Parts: sequence; structure tokens; C-alpha cells
Amino acid sequence: MLNRKEAEQLLEEGRRSNEGPWIPHSQYVALAAEAIAKATKSLDPDRAYVLGLLHDIGKSDPTAQNRHPLLGYDFMIERGESEIAQISLTHPYALKDFHETIGYSSYSEKENLRIEQLLASFSYTDYDLLIQLCDGLAIPEGIVLLEKRLFDVHLRHGFNDYTLQRWKRLIEIKKHFEKLIGFSLYDLFPESVGLTFSHDF
Ligand SMILES: [Fe+2]
Repeated sequence: MLNRKEAEQLLEEGRRSNEGPWIPHSQYVALAAEAIAKATKSLDPDRAYVLGLLHDIGKSDPTAQNRHPLLGYDFMIERGESEIAQISLTHPYALKDFHETIGYSSYSEKENLRIEQLLASFSYTDYDLLIQLCDGLAIPEGIVLLEKRLFDVHLRHGFNDYTLQRWKRLIEIKKHFEKLIGFSLYDLFPESVGLTFSHDF
């Protein structure tokens, strides 16, 4: 798998082709994933960092918008990076259900089918779960309370029939990692308190 430096270079290329808040968001997902992995003692912090940094790499394409998980998957497969490709596709699908996402309607029918088949073919690892969780903790300014970030996403994109189930699943994933580390994951991110209660967000 790509090392940290190679992953940072790839994100830098992404910044050059499509500068946006997804760059600092990806950097915070990487830092959060690394910190949690380090605290578990069973997961590899460097691997977690690289996967976090590149989970949204599909957004390097300025036309990607909500098609970025599949574009990111193809982009990383072309480079022979199947694990990063998997994370790129699985990060919005905590329920492993193609229908759970909101505002992802810009795929063609053929692409919908591909995503369904790919999701069915994957076995989720702790790394898939870790990036799903960290994607739910990181805003472009830093790490915040999971509930705050979820609220923000749904204020912008609305709800669907899967929203409640998704929230429950993400809380379950958070508990899974807290069980592994033995304390509240927010203890790893003391700055999240100030950011969560900041008047700016
Ligand atoms: Fe993301």
C-alpha cells in the first residue's frame, strides 16, 4: 500500500485539480484514524492514516461531486491499490446498503448496479469501520462530536428512510472502537470540545 508520503502527494495532486474543503476534511479524517488506531494497539496507525487521507480521493475530479466514491474506487484500482479503493467505495455505506446514502442520485443505472455488486463482494474490516466513523467526526476545521457532524450533514442534505438506522450504526461503530481503546474517543481529541461548542458552526 502507498506510504504516508505517497498518499500526501496524491492528495496534493487532488488539491491542484480540485481545491476545496474536502482537502482539510481528508487530513482530519487521516489524523483521527491514526490516533484511534494507535490507541487500539491492534490496528496499524500508518495504514489508518493513509486510508483516511485518501478516502475522498474521487473528489480530485472536479466533476465528481456525489459520484466520488465510485470514481475514487476506479482511480485507486487503476493504481493497483485495492484496499484504498475499497475504502473509497465503502466510506459512505455504514449499513453496507446502496440505498442508504443521501444526494447520491447522480450515478447512472449501470453505476448503481456496480456499486451494489461491489458492496456485496466486500467483507468490511475494522479499517472500513474506522474510516466511516472518522468521516463522521471530521469537518474541514477539525474533529467534532459525531452528533454535531451528522446533524450538519442532514441539515444540508435532508433525510431518507435509512437515516435513523445509519445514525444507530455509526454510534455502534463508535462504541466498538471505544471498547477497543477502553475510554471515550473524544479524550484523544481534546480540541473537539471547543470546536463542537464554537459559535462559528
Ligand atoms: Fe469524507
